[in-house]
Formats: sequence, structure tokens, C-alpha cells
Amino acid sequence: MAIGDAYDAEGMIPITRAHAAASGQEGDLVFVEMLAKGGAKCMVPTSTNPVYDIKYFHDLFPNIPENEADVARRVMAAYKRVGAIMSWSCTPYLAENIPLFGETVAFSESSATPYVNSVIGACTNREAAQSALAAGVIGKTPKYGLHIKENRKGTHLVDVEATLNDEFDYTLLGQYVGKIVGYGIPVLTGITRRPTTEEFINFCAMSNTSGAITMFYMPGLTVEALTVKDAFQGDMPKDKVTVTNKELGETQEELQTTCGKIDFVQLGCPHYTLKQIAEVAALLENKKLHKEVAFWVCTSATAKTLADRVGYTRTIEKAGGQLVVDTCIDEPCWIAYKQKIGMTDSPKCAYYRRYKDVMVGRLEDCVDAAVRGEWK
Ligand code: F3S
Repeated sequence: MAIGDAYDAEGMIPITRAHAAASGQEGDLVFVEMLAKGGAKCMVPTSTNPVYDIKYFHDLFPNIPENEADVARRVMAAYKRVGAIMSWSCTPYLAENIPLFGETVAFSESSATPYVNSVIGACTNREAAQSALAAGVIGKTPKYGLHIKENRKGTHLVDVEATLNDEFDYTLLGQYVGKIVGYGIPVLTGITRRPTTEEFINFCAMSNTSGAITMFYMPGLTVEALTVKDAFQGDMPKDKVTVTNKELGETQEELQTTCGKIDFVQLGCPHYTLKQIAEVAALLENKKLHKEVAFWVCTSATAKTLADRVGYTRTIEKAGGQLVVDTCIDEPCWIAYKQKIGMTDSPKCAYYRRYKDVMVGRLEDCVDAAVRGEWK
């Protein structure tokens, strides 16, 4: 209600599901424990973002302070008490809590919000962990922002002349568009092939990290507006931007903060899908990772279960890597690696680690660097 007042909301509207960006941090703990203590229960399916796999990390790194484990344990227990779906994943819209076109929902998690609005065509504002959980408990959210059609109007026309071949190209595109468009709603034209699920995920995650893109259109490829005119609701764009290979190349260069010896590779920010895990397994087949390089792939419990069955987990482990569930890269469990040098395929991962250099490159380059122990 207070958020609704702050935004002059038209009132409260019912939602059908929510996703709370839970974390193993004290601010989250206070709120969810308060609700749990008061007997609150989620009225609609409410999934949870990753915290971390407490047992796995505390066995691995005995120097994680015990109070950190205590906070994470209490957060997870409290979400259970309020009846949340304990997905501990930042891609719940793929398996554990899937909105449909036109649904009104309350989804937090920066990478999930644009996906839900744009790729699925459901309606959500950029929620915090607390506001999403509160909405899940009362089954309602204030009607403002992206719950009003007029506010879903495109703001910037982005003409994509760049060649987009793979998931990493969409990572670069998201990184660039987020930076240029900021808080706007970009309408992207010129993309001729429908992006894959993973390409959409990367675009969403990066554009809402380098910028604050909670919604975008690719008319004809995303679902809500089939034409550019519809995306702008008949208005003119506020600004026009062209993205060529040059901009994407420069974006990639900016992400190369250093080179040389690496201590770790971190993948799965956002959580890797089964398809991406399969790609990692294929790249690691019959290879051995450098003995001084730690190699982690974060994913959902759902994807890991399937990866176990299919044999991808075994291949990754045999090479010396680890598939980790329930875990976000921005949690205290990584403390032993905070001051070390790493590599990732995700600028979002590099941004949130922010303590020490993390280079960003294609998956193939990350695997290659992990095998050789260095990035050129
Ligand atoms: Fe997921 Fe955490 Fe990255 S929630 S998107 S692994 S910052």
C-alpha cells in the first residue's frame, strides 16, 4: 500500500503469481521473518531467487563466517514458513513459476522482470524482494507503472545493424542498449532471427544491469506489439540509436579489464539452462581443467536434476568443474574468491562481484582459459 501511495497508484489489482528476489542478506531476513512470525502465507505461487547451497559452500570454504550461514539458513526457513515455492533460482519463469501472456504478476530479480514483461508478455513492475513477497502474500499489487498500458509504450528506437550470431552477442547487445537507453523502453528493429530462450535471457540480464530496462520490444519477435507503430502506441520515439558491430566490439573491449593468470571461472549468472550446461559439458569432454582454476556453473535444481540424468554433471565434474544449485554469484559464500582474478561470460556477474577483476568473454574462451589457467 505504501508503495502504491508513493506512486499515486490507482488502487490494488489482483496478481496470479510472484517471484521474490530472496537473498542471504539481513535486510531480506528481517522482512521475511516478520511475515513468517505473523503467520503470513503466500496466496499465489511465489518463487524464490537463489541464496546459496549452505552445506556445499561451508564444506568447501571453512572460512565463511558462521553468522553468514545462520542468516542464509534463517532466510530459507522463513520463506518456507510463508509457503513460498523454494525454487532458489533466478530463472523461475522457465520451469518453477511460469507466467502466461497477459497475466498480472509481481516479479523481482532484475533479469526476470524484463523477460516476464517482454518475452512472455505478462505485466510486472520492477519489484524488490520485499514488495514481491508482500504481493505474493496478499495476492495483490498496486496499479501503477507497467500495469498501465500507456506506461508500456516504447521510448527509444534501436536499429540493430550488428550481426547477432550467438548468446554472447545478445549479452553485448544488452550491455550496450542498457547503457544507452537507461530507464527507457527500447524498441529493437533489424533483428531477423528469433532469439533463443538463452539469448533473450542474456539480453534481459545485461540490459537491466548496465541500465534499468524493465521492458523492451522486438516487434514481430516478442509478443506484445507486432509492429513498431504498436510498440510506440502511435507516438514518435524520443530518441533513435543504431547499433553496429563497432559498438558491440567496443562493448566487448570495455569488458576486458585485464588478462593473464586466472583463479576461477564462474558461469550461470543468470542460472544456466540445461542447454547451456550441455554446451559446457561438450566443451569439457575429454579435457582437464587447470589444477589451480576453480570452475563453477550455477543453475537451478530443476536443470541440475536433468543434467545429472543426462550425464552432463558427470562430464563437468570429471574435468574438474562443479555444477552448483540454489546459489547466486553475489552471496557471501564466495568470500574465498573475492580477491582473486576470474573470468565469466556474464557482465552482470562481473558487475556484482566488483571486488576484483573479472574478465568477460565467450563461453568457449572461458573454458579455454580454465583449461590453460590464463586468459590472453
Ligand atoms: Fe542470478 Fe544472482 Fe546473477 S540472482 S542473475 S546469479 S546476480
